[in-house]
Amino acid sequence: MLQKDIEEILITEEKIQEKVAELGATLTADYQDKFPLAIGVLKGALPFMSDLIKRVDAYIELDFMDVSSYGNATVSSGEVKIVKDLNTSVEGRDVLIIEDIIDSGKTLNYLVELFKYRKAKSIKIVTLLDKPTGRKVDLKADYVGFIVPDAFVVGYGLDYAEKYRNLPYIGVLKKEIYSF
Ligand code: PRP
Ligand code: MN
Ligand code: MG
Repeated sequence: MLQKDIEEILITEEKIQEKVAELGATLTADYQDKFPLAIGVLKGALPFMSDLIKRVDAYIELDFMDVSSYGNATVSSGEVKIVKDLNTSVEGRDVLIIEDIIDSGKTLNYLVELFKYRKAKSIKIVTLLDKPTGRKVDLKADYVGFIVPDAFVVGYGLDYAEKYRNLPYIGVLKKEIYSF
């Protein structure tokens, strides 16, 4: 049913799960002697986070943050509003931010600055997708699954108007869906 709106599958379910296992193994090694606070950025990070944490064989604590871009399209200020804050203090903690995609970099830039200000001991970013062509601020992830082209991608957490997050793969949306 959902697939009728998809022009092309960019990353299959199998390729995603392969990469998730790979990233999980890397994180397992890097966090073996630590107890990181893994922070999922709602809502997009949900499927990736859910799959990834099961592949990390180390002690990890989970928390969530919901943020939304502030203001409107005329002023691209990079301001981000906290919709739901953490339940846990990041002070002195090894923070691992889990994201579905980095586009302009503004969301993560805001979170990194916030967690620095709140005195996190270390801050690392794991993102399933990276769209470097969209970058507006200088921001690099520590762990990246796939580089994606400048296309309208949905699925596996990524939405268009809140839809398609529940697709098990990453696809390109048909033009007719978002341009009318
Ligand atoms: C999307 C995506 C990232 C962010 C990336 O979230 O999930 O969090 O945008 O864009 P940026 O690098 O330009 O900041 P969105 O704000 O759409 O919220 P959602 O996760 O609830 O869809
Ligand atoms: Mn998001
Ligand atoms: Mg969104």
